[in-house]
Amino acid sequence: MSTEEIREKYLNFFKKNDHAEITPSPLVIDSDPTTLFTSSGMQQLVPYLKGEKHPKGKRLADSQPSLRLQDLEEVGDNRHTTFFEMLGNWSLGDYFKEEQLKWIWKFYTEELGISSERLHVSVFEGDGEVPKDTESFEIWKKIGVPENHIHFYDAKKNWWSRAGIPQEMPPGEIGGPDSEIFYEFEDIAHRPEFGSFCHPNCDCGKFLEIGNSVFMQYQKTDDGKLIDLPQKNVDFGGGLERVSAALLNNPDIFAIDIFSGVIGKIEKETGRLYGSDISKDVSYRVIADHLRAAVNLLAEGVIPGNKLHGYVLRRLVRRAMFHFHLLGSGISGSAVSHIAEEYRKYYPNVDKNWQFIDENLTAEATRFEAALKRGLAKLTRAVSEGVEIDGKFAFDLYQTEGFPLELSMEILKQNGMNFTRDEKNSFEEEFEKHKSASRSASAGMFKGGLAEASEITTKLHTATHVLHAALRQVLGEHVGQKGSHITNERLRFDFSNQQKLSDKEIGQIEDLINLKIAEDLPVTFSVMSLPDAIASGAMHFFAEKYGQEVKVYTVGDPKGIWFSKEVCGGPHVTHTGEIGGVKIIKQEKIGSGIIRLYATIK
Ligand code: SER
Repeated sequence: MSTEEIREKYLNFFKKNDHAEITPSPLVIDSDPTTLFTSSGMQQLVPYLKGEKHPKGKRLADSQPSLRLQDLEEVGDNRHTTFFEMLGNWSLGDYFKEEQLKWIWKFYTEELGISSERLHVSVFEGDGEVPKDTESFEIWKKIGVPENHIHFYDAKKNWWSRAGIPQEMPPGEIGGPDSEIFYEFEDIAHRPEFGSFCHPNCDCGKFLEIGNSVFMQYQKTDDGKLIDLPQKNVDFGGGLERVSAALLNNPDIFAIDIFSGVIGKIEKETGRLYGSDISKDVSYRVIADHLRAAVNLLAEGVIPGNKLHGYVLRRLVRRAMFHFHLLGSGISGSAVSHIAEEYRKYYPNVDKNWQFIDENLTAEATRFEAALKRGLAKLTRAVSEGVEIDGKFAFDLYQTEGFPLELSMEILKQNGMNFTRDEKNSFEEEFEKHKSASRSASAGMFKGGLAEASEITTKLHTATHVLHAALRQVLGEHVGQKGSHITNERLRFDFSNQQKLSDKEIGQIEDLINLKIAEDLPVTFSVMSLPDAIASGAMHFFAEKYGQEVKVYTVGDPKGIWFSKEVCGGPHVTHTGEIGGVKIIKQEKIGSGIIRLYATIK
């Protein structure tokens, strides 16, 4: 059965059971400053899971394209991808455990014909606050799942919320115990390096999680307790590609139809066969995965860049290019695009926007290929001249050419040289220094030179926060920062909004900013964990993983009435009065739904 048929069968099955099909969200989230991409089907349904009425009713289903970047480093094994489709069905205060578990079992075993003997299920074992889910256990038994295929796990494995286990949920977040379904590949052995006791949640690859029914019934309160939501919901998610792999009885999800065309083209390009050398398989998978994510992002209008969505897209394309080098061949930008074109067959949006995708993908890949070549030449020259290639050398190469450490190491290995652990550590030290500098820069979305910020740029930096808050107040909460740049003369600020602002709106925004300056509000910061920052209402961006602690700058009283709160590296003035006054001098529409403003200090 093709992957597309599985998707269709799933939607038909739930439609037959009175579910309305809803339109999936776009991958790219523009309006929410807390998150960059859709990573699960429930994201667009949060208000309805909390009790609001959904216009399409209480039973919904869809197949949601999703992007999970926390899996980026895991891509390369046989079952993780960044982009994937999530089959989803929801009960918004309608049916609950009994119907859900029966339906999903019926769908997998009868509609798809997966042998029930190959399936295992898991159930929440309970913790201090939430009892053991004996109800699901009994339902599974009634369905006919033998007890030795029903496994109890703690909250780390059998609890779902966007923030993880109950203790990590910020106030307001919703979640609940869940029950997962696993497919067992009987003909592959458990790998001994994982220990002798293998079970569905073992990482050895013998079991593949193919579906998760979340019983979304709790919400975290401000004082850290879990209380019942006004209604009991079901939130099911199943990875379409994984279901397809289970049906093929192949533990490698890159063996499914969607990937086969691309893998075939990579084989042609590199002259090597996938599967012929296990140590190289990772590269085929990374290329196939990253190009699929990249074309789907491009299809939504993202262009490679240094910030936010564009930065993620750039990383995906570059990692794919880098893996071509690991396979022993450079590749032209147009050849990369030719490979990625295979995905047109599967994604109508990619097909429709192919010309745009092709141009941008080719351009980015060509640029990076040239940088890789320059880096390669520098490195080979240094090697042949007997220059010592230490961590610092590799880091400089990384910084000037974007040349990845893994590639330096690989090339050294090919030349019979090894990077010692110390050298690797010194690269990593340099890298960490660089990362924490850019992390605090991107935390404030204020690029570069924070340490040597002048008085005027400091003022402009605070003015940017005040402008951001004023825009949201005057135009609405859909306004989210897309980029920002400050020089000694002016600030530049890009944000999401459909059309250019009217003169009246500009006047209102300027007046509000200048009012806040006249009020001479204090500007202070405190250091806290990211979840605490979110809980305090601070705006922030997930362009990259933040460290444990972030700085939150508040304009106004952080514990009382405040005007703006943002996760940011600083520096800022101490009182808004120091800014003097702000004037908006120019606006441009720079892309679909993105407006750019320029402003100066009066
Ligand atoms: N929200 C759950 C998940 O993302 C189930 O849909 O896994």
